[in-house]
Amino acid sequence: MGNVISFCSGKGGVGKTTLVANLGCLIAQNHRKTLLIDGDWNLGKLNISLGAKSFATWDGILSKSYSLKEAIQQLDDNLFFIASPSGKLGLEEMTPDLRSQIFFELEGVIKDYDHILFDHSSGINLSVLDFAAASQQHVIVTTPEPTSYTDAYAIMKLLSRKYAVKEFLLLVMMSREQMQTQGVMDRFLSVVYQQLNVKVNLMGIIPWDARFSEAIFKRNAFVNMFPSDPLTYQLRKISEAILEQDVQIKTGLQFSSEAYAYKEAI
Ligand SMILES: Nc1ncnc2c1ncn2[C@@H]1O[C@H](COP(=O)(O)OP(=O)(O)O)[C@@H](O)[C@H]1O
Ligand SMILES: [Mg+2]
Repeated sequence: MGNVISFCSGKGGVGKTTLVANLGCLIAQNHRKTLLIDGDWNLGKLNISLGAKSFATWDGILSKSYSLKEAIQQLDDNLFFIASPSGKLGLEEMTPDLRSQIFFELEGVIKDYDHILFDHSSGINLSVLDFAAASQQHVIVTTPEPTSYTDAYAIMKLLSRKYAVKEFLLLVMMSREQMQTQGVMDRFLSVVYQQLNVKVNLMGIIPWDARFSEAIFKRNAFVNMFPSDPLTYQLRKISEAILEQDVQIKTGLQFSSEAYAYKEAI
C-alpha cells in the first residue's frame, strides 16, 4: 500500500510546491516508485516546477473525459505526476460527493506506488483538511515568520482536534539565519506542545536561496539543476528521514473510508 505524505501550510507562498517537486525527485531517484499529486485544485502549478505538461488534469478525470491512469504522466524512471487545472471553475468549492470521488479514484492507484506526495492548496478548508487527514504522514511547511507559523499552528490544531492526527513533521523554508530560526522554532514548538496534544518532529530548516526561483524559471527542480550542491544533499537527507519515520497507519481518515462511501453511492 502506498504511503501518502501530505504537504500543507495554511499560508500561501511558503514553499510547499517547491518541496514536493524537489523531495519527490529525490525519493524517485532513490528507486522508490513515487507519485506526485497536485492538490491545488484550480490553481495547479506543480507541473511548472517539474517541467511537466498539464494536458490531463483533475477536472477531466472527474468529468470522466479520461481515466486517472490515463492522466498520470511518467516524468522519469520512478517519477509520476497528476496535474491540477489552472483557472478552471468547478473544483473551487468542492462538494462532499466530489471529494469522495477523488478518494475513490486515488484508492484505485495508490497501491501501485511506494510513496505518494500530496501538494495541497493554501488556505484551510475541507478540500485541504479531508485529504490531509486521510494521509499517513503530515508535513507542515512554514517559514520563520509569525504570519506563517500562526497558520501552521492553525492547521495542526484543526487536524489534531477534528481528525485526531497526533503526529506531524515540520519543515521550515526560507530561513535567512539558521540560529535565529532555530530559536523561533524552539519557542513555537513549546507553545504547540503546551496547547495541542501532538508530537511534532522538526525535520529541517532550509535556507532562503534565490536559486529555487531560478530553477522555477528554468521549469526544473532545484535538485536536478544543482545535483551536487550542499542544499541538494540536505534535501536528500530530509527525504530519507521522512521515509524512515514511523508511519501512522491507524490515525486520520484513511483514503478507503471515503472511497467506499462513493462506491456505495454509485
Ligand atoms: N528556500 C527558498 N528560498 C527562496 N525562495 C524560495 C524557497 N522556497 C521556495 N521559494 C520561492 O517561493 C515561492 C513560493 O513557493 P511555492 O513552493 O510555490 O509555495 P507554496 O506552494 O507554499 O505556495 C516560489 O517563487 C519559490 O521559488
Ligand atoms: Mg503551491
